[in-house]
Amino acid sequence: MTGPLVNLAGRHAAVTGAAGGLGRSIARTLAGAGARISVLDINAAGAEQTVSQIRAAGGCADSISCDVADAGSIAAAFDQVAASGPADILVNNAGINPRQASLEVTDETWAHTLAINLTGYFLCARRFAERLIAAGGPGPGAAVNGAAVNGAAVNGAVVNGAVVNVSSIGGSTSLGRGNFPYGVSKGGVDQLTRELAVAWAPRGIRVNAVAPCQIATDGLRALSENPSAEGRLIDTFLRGIPLGRLAEPEEVAAAVAFLASDAAAMITGVILPVDGGNLALNAGGTIGE
Ligand SMILES: NC(=O)c1ccc[n+]([C@@H]2O[C@H](COP(=O)([O-])OP(=O)(O)OC[C@H]3O[C@@H](n4cnc5c(N)ncnc54)[C@H](O)[C@@H]3O)[C@@H](O)[C@H]2O)c1
Repeated sequence: MTGPLVNLAGRHAAVTGAAGGLGRSIARTLAGAGARISVLDINAAGAEQTVSQIRAAGGCADSISCDVADAGSIAAAFDQVAASGPADILVNNAGINPRQASLEVTDETWAHTLAINLTGYFLCARRFAERLIAAGGPGPGAAVNGAAVNGAAVNGAVVNGAVVNVSSIGGSTSLGRGNFPYGVSKGGVDQLTRELAVAWAPRGIRVNAVAPCQIATDGLRALSENPSAEGRLIDTFLRGIPLGRLAEPEEVAAAVAFLASDAAAMITGVILPVDGGNLALNAGGTIGE
């Protein structure tokens, strides 16, 4: 392999929920690595801001209105994404976390959380894969001795696709504090990742996930400076993170870029923690020796 490890030149990435927060950081990072970006979000103004930031940095991006809780909206959005050639990278990132405890969660909250955080991930992934497979033809993967190295041959067609699902440490451990419907949805995302990785491997589409710990977004940064009980929650988070700090959005985005790139050509079905060692630490364990 020559050139930078993560090179997305010639790739087209659809990133959901990229009007702000982590999604914007992912969109900017993938654009910085050379990918064309389709910014999918219900927040049109925020999506346009992301597009402006990418273009100002010399990248290429368009915003597309999409409600990932609505199958019709997803279908229309991926039609638009494919207008200038289908995406070959999908980052499922759009998510919500309306905190409600298990005995208090309303049917509506339960259904809406799963609709966005889990069903939305599946519907976007399926539409993405249908479009990419239908387009067929050689992906950007190189051929060595006549064999495709980065894509797999299906009925003579070769695709080189990557899905990266944004999960959470809450998908494999319980966070408490009303993160119940959210945690269940993220556990579903983890299994969705494994199922689709195996199902789509022969088609040349890799499917992986990142599982971040708490990310240093503006909201959490403000909380960490607040001496209230809520503010002290940050100390609770930090006690569980051996590296002793929250994740930066760019650190999560870097892991997404790696998994989307040909540097990860042999990696599929993986849930990659980006958590400073949080999942490695037993609740009764001590940090250091
Ligand atoms: N922030 C964290 O600490 C953290 C930690 C672990 C995992 N995550 C995951 O990262 C992802 C992004 O989180 P964030 O903190 O940036 O959240 P955020 O609320 O800042 O951004 C979420 C984005 O999704 C969009 N969105 C919401 N509903 C949508 C819908 N129905 N259709 C399309 N777009 C929709 C919003 O408009 C927004 O742009 C989520 O999947 C979240 O679970 C976040």
